[in-house]
Amino acid sequence: MIENLHQQTGDVQRLVQSEPSRTDAFENTLRPQRLADYIGQQQLKRNLSVSLEAAKAREEPMEHLLLYGPPGLGKTTLSHIIASEMGANIKITSGPAIDKPGDLASLLTNLQPGDVLFIDEIHRLKTAVEEVLYSAMEDFVLDIVIGKGPGARSMRINLPPFTLVGATTKVNMLSSPLRDRFGHVYRLEFYSDDEMSHIVHRSSQILGLGVEETAALEIASRARKTPRIANRLLRRVRDYAHIGGVSSISLELAQHALGELGIDVLGLDPSDRMILSTMIEKFGGRPIGLSTLASATSEEEGTIEDVYEPYLLQIGFIERTPRGRIPTDRAYTHLGFTPPSGSQGSLLSA
Ligand code: ADE
Repeated sequence: MIENLHQQTGDVQRLVQSEPSRTDAFENTLRPQRLADYIGQQQLKRNLSVSLEAAKAREEPMEHLLLYGPPGLGKTTLSHIIASEMGANIKITSGPAIDKPGDLASLLTNLQPGDVLFIDEIHRLKTAVEEVLYSAMEDFVLDIVIGKGPGARSMRINLPPFTLVGATTKVNMLSSPLRDRFGHVYRLEFYSDDEMSHIVHRSSQILGLGVEETAALEIASRARKTPRIANRLLRRVRDYAHIGGVSSISLELAQHALGELGIDVLGLDPSDRMILSTMIEKFGGRPIGLSTLASATSEEEGTIEDVYEPYLLQIGFIERTPRGRIPTDRAYTHLGFTPPSGSQGSLLSA
């Protein structure tokens, strides 16, 4: 069981990781404040816009909302937008940070009417804490037991109406009583190249940097369809621009910087390629189990499963079979190997 990816993965910090990194504080300056400035997730935006307008017209907080999907796609950003569109404050916490029912009680009793409470990694709430949340979500009351044994008393505390925004990357790990208490459940999708390129343009503008159309697309297409990664790559490319004394990013500069950083045209970094080449060269493309792959690459099993594998599966470079993981023809071709089937596919150079 993975308790904390950052702890669990030690100090693995990659340019293309989709989880937040310690140096992502600048992400806050790039977050859009209004729904109109948020790029992509069109269907979700339309639905959210209707709910926001209706809640504002009724002068009520919006119904509780659950956002799920891979990391880095904008769950936190959307919760900030909901608060600012509602003219409300936002309090931010996470499942593992709420240790006891009392911690949740103190968070909830300190809310102002209409506030947004954002709970990230909500699937990691402890059962005892989660149970307190049920009546808070449903009736805006807290039922808590004070004391222990025969002298224990139960107390009911009224809460201000609020909107809970829960976020998770693992929606299947949420209990059904909790999931059922959300009025809205939305899945965030990966972004198209066009949307990603828009985001790169918008972020460059905020950073006071020019970027050529082709350069924005280049950064976008190496960012794994994930805005958080695009913004991180942009910041690295900006360093190269500053060192080179230029105020605008050209295609050549973007390609040079990303190449130097080891990020290839599909957004794979040296660790991804090492994992794939181990599967191809050391194991000849035969199915291998997670533990074998972990020891052959000197990585933790959890790191391979949660950090590297999702994107490699998503772009069809790895397949999971009942007998283990295998690299696909596309992976062979991308790394410059001839696939066992002999087909060349489209040769994308690293
Ligand atoms: N920055 C990060 N994600 C964004 C998004 N979806 N729209 C605009 N800017 C962003």
